[in-house]
Amino acid sequence: MKISPLSPIGIFDSGIGGLLIAKEIKMRMPNEDFIYFGDTINMPYGDKSKEFIIENSMKIASFLYEKKCKALVIACNSMTSNSLDVISKKFNSKILIFNVIDPIVRNQIFFSSKKIGIIATPATIRSNFYMEKIKKYYRHLDVVQISTPLLAPMIEKGLKIKKNIIINYLNHFKSIDTLLLACTHYLFLKQEIDNFYHGQVHLIDIQKIVVQEIKKKLNEEKLLCIHPTLNSKFPIFYTSGSIPTFFEKKVRILFGRKVFIKTHVFNYS
Ligand code: DGL
Repeated sequence: MKISPLSPIGIFDSGIGGLLIAKEIKMRMPNEDFIYFGDTINMPYGDKSKEFIIENSMKIASFLYEKKCKALVIACNSMTSNSLDVISKKFNSKILIFNVIDPIVRNQIFFSSKKIGIIATPATIRSNFYMEKIKKYYRHLDVVQISTPLLAPMIEKGLKIKKNIIINYLNHFKSIDTLLLACTHYLFLKQEIDNFYHGQVHLIDIQKIVVQEIKKKLNEEKLLCIHPTLNSKFPIFYTSGSIPTFFEKKVRILFGRKVFIKTHVFNYS
């Protein structure tokens, strides 16, 4: 399959989490055409087994590959931490593969921290993906991670997250200087979390760091789209079941009305 700068970027998550990554891509690379996939029927991934996550994230990756994408962005920590190696093995030699964890772990940001907290889904915590990587690169760092299973499903449904839920979770951390929101859904909660800490704990700018890396690599590979194309004006968003109202609402808020929102149902045999 021939890819070119004009080929789309495929971005995927279990639902709305990856939309903020897609938004950052749109802001920093406005000429890019992208296709988004939210596996809304299987959301939340955070409470699924590794086998389930591998099987289903591979289905999405293959779907986007068939759509002739030049790159895949796994905009989900639960998928990245459980299936990145399998996805990379299958597609790395064909197209570019990006994820939301490696650019963060590689970032210099941790050198200025002493103690960091990580909040993530049970599937991400169980994988130990962050711990292993962070401990390898930053021996000086004290890392505490907790699983926060209530958050992503509530954010996906557009439910108001009560202050005491956030407080109960964050009270597990004592004297951290940095907090990593290690689930893309939590990026929608950044302001509430920042308020809880009165701006005293550094919240890593995940979208910015991830998308800077994507742009740099596309540029190096001569795959960056330099001129606006017709497709770049009309991104497509797929959901894996009938389109959830809140998903559609978020898409419209972030990307306006000139978008396509469609359903693609996988065959489960
Ligand atoms: N947005 C996802 C993540 O980054 C997953 C949320 C879920 O489906 O549980 O982990």
